[in-house]
Amino acid sequence: MQSIPPQHLTSSLSVVLLAAGQGTRMRSSLPKVLHTLAGKPLINHVLERAQELDARQRLVVVGHQASRLLEHLKNEQVDTVIQQPQLGTGHALQLCLQNIPNSCDTVLVVYGDVPLLQTNTLQQLIYLCDGQHLALLTEIIEEPHGYGRILRDSSGQVVGIREQKDASQEEQTIREINTGIMALPRSKLDQWLSALTTHNAQGEYYLTDIVQLAHQQGITIHTCQPLYSWEAMGVNSQQQLSYLERAYQRHCAETWQSQGVAISDPNRFDVRGTLHCAQDVSIDVGCIFEGEVVLQEGVKVGPYSLLKNCTVESHTEILAFCHIEGAHIGAHNRIGPYARIRPMSVTQDQVHIGNFVEIKKTTLGQQSKVNHLTYLGDTIVGERVNVGAGTITCNYDGVNKHQTVIEDDVFIGSDTQLVAPVTIATGSTIGAGSTIVSSTPPNQLTLSRSKQQSIARWQRPKPRKS
Ligand code: UD1
Ligand code: MG
Repeated sequence: MQSIPPQHLTSSLSVVLLAAGQGTRMRSSLPKVLHTLAGKPLINHVLERAQELDARQRLVVVGHQASRLLEHLKNEQVDTVIQQPQLGTGHALQLCLQNIPNSCDTVLVVYGDVPLLQTNTLQQLIYLCDGQHLALLTEIIEEPHGYGRILRDSSGQVVGIREQKDASQEEQTIREINTGIMALPRSKLDQWLSALTTHNAQGEYYLTDIVQLAHQQGITIHTCQPLYSWEAMGVNSQQQLSYLERAYQRHCAETWQSQGVAISDPNRFDVRGTLHCAQDVSIDVGCIFEGEVVLQEGVKVGPYSLLKNCTVESHTEILAFCHIEGAHIGAHNRIGPYARIRPMSVTQDQVHIGNFVEIKKTTLGQQSKVNHLTYLGDTIVGERVNVGAGTITCNYDGVNKHQTVIEDDVFIGSDTQLVAPVTIATGSTIGAGSTIVSSTPPNQLTLSRSKQQSIARWQRPKPRKS
């Protein structure tokens, strides 16, 4: 794709996003454009693209389930137009005109259910339109049924678009289709749109009819194609939604692979937000990254882990089946398998957190280990601490949460309960099976269990004879 001089990209642009249609084939009560792809509503993908284009205005046409969409858009900086009833794409744009200032050069028409258009592709269209020509995003596809076909004359000039339902047998063999995405000169729109009629098979105002009008007036009609085949695909059904989800995720995975990230299988990789990877990161199959996730150099993420809004520092290994959310994991840690790290948890370097360990709002100092079957909540753990299997901080009294402090070099024996608030002082050892209800002195063994005894003549209860 040719590079575009920057002055053409900032020329005054209005983006019109059509989203008034019904979307019956989704078979869902949720408006189609609110279904999510990569964890984000379809319409938000399109709005973000418009944002990246530095559009002066973003105008959304709503109609079907308008109130639900207006509610969704209430915190976005967009203008909205209600199209009721929906008399076609030409009608939708007509209703927008009074909201688009004449000072605007180019009007870019996008669909709310076509979520994966790349910014480059849209920039190309805007460049070709340049506020005076007409620019269409077209594609040549194997199965053009259902789409408007691009009509060209013998010299290859575009002369019009014919909708599927109006196309002759011969026209139906044309494989170049209209994606619906186009850039239009604002100065011509009042005239073109007011000339539209409903004399067609669907009795609608077809936006596509402006192409023939433009041709008749000698306006140049440019076309360009998207770089990727999935870019201009729309979502009409759950199947198409999942197809585009995979296309998006695969593209994401391949982009990271090209930057040196080892991704075991790009078909089993999901980013629902923003992932940042440094060099030599490796990601095994089935991982999901949500929100903002940072993986520093040499981090390894084992299979089937979910990481949400977290940072993992360099050379840490996350083993299989971990769930990490809202946490900061230090360098050279070993986490999992089967670890759950909850929000506001922080680990320093060389920490080990093993299987079936849950950590919440807890800080672990350097070289501390919590390897098995443990819950630490609202806890500050010092350095070189060893927390034995089955340790539980009793941080909740039914009303309030209380803090546990475990200072440096502490050894907690297995199956211990630490009833917060409590401090285990430096160098303490806690005997296995203890329930610790008050703070311990440093460097001593503390245990709270009855002395082991054996009862020689003790008999197990026997079942009564009836
Ligand atoms: C349209 C194009 C067709 C193109 C196809 C690509 C026209 C006349 N036809 O056809 O050439 O190949 O898209 O998918 O434009 N919408 C409104 N208000 C309306 C009607 C539609 O906002 O009154 C919105 C829909 O929500 C959707 C978009 O416009 O986002 C396209 O509408 P749709 O009904 O899917 O158009 P097609 O008949 O598929
Ligand atoms: Mg359609």
